[in-house]
Amino acid sequence: MEELKIRPIEDGTVIDHIPRGQSLNVLRVLGVDTSTRDVVSVAMNVPSDAMGRKDIVKVEDREIGSKEADIIALIAPDATVNVVRDFEVRDKYEVSMPDEIRGVLNCPNPNCITNTREPVETVFDVRDGEIRCDYCGTVLTDEVAEYLG
Ligand code: CTP
Ligand code: ZN
Repeated sequence: MEELKIRPIEDGTVIDHIPRGQSLNVLRVLGVDTSTRDVVSVAMNVPSDAMGRKDIVKVEDREIGSKEADIIALIAPDATVNVVRDFEVRDKYEVSMPDEIRGVLNCPNPNCITNTREPVETVFDVRDGEIRCDYCGTVLTDEVAEYLG
C-alpha cells in the first residue's frame, strides 16, 4: 500500500517498519538535515498490517551500512533496511542493537570529559538494555532521541 504514498526509488536505501512518529529521529541518526543534498522522502502514519501505522524513510543514491543501521535500532528496533539498486531490493536486513555507540549520542552530564574537552568522541556501552557513558558512567534514562546531537 505504501507504494501509493511514495514512489519506488531507483537506487538508495529504504528504511521500513519505523514506529510511527520516529521517522524524523531516524533522519537525525542518518545526519539528514537542512544542509543535506540527498533526495529524501518520508512517509508518516502509513497503514501497516503488522504495526497498525508506521513511518518509512527513503534516501536516494546512498547505501546505508549495517553499522549506521544498527544505531537506528535504538529508535526503531523492528526497522528493516532495504538496499535498492536498479529499482530492485538487493539487500534486506533487520537492524540489531549495537554493543557500543560511538559519536552519535551526547552525554547529559555537563562535567563529562566528552562535554569539557572537545573533541572527545562519545562512547556508550549498551548492556541489558541500558545505555551507559563509557567515560562517566551516566545512564541514559530518557528516550534515546533526546541525546542525539
Ligand atoms: N521499495 C522502494 N523502491 C524500490 C523497491 C522497494 O521504495 N525500487 C520499498 C518498498 O516500497 C518497501 C521496501 O522498499 O517499503 C521493501 O520493499 P519489498 O521488499 O519489495 O517490500 P516487502 O516485501 O513488503 O517488504 P517486507 O517483507 O520487509 O515488509
Ligand atoms: Zn559521560
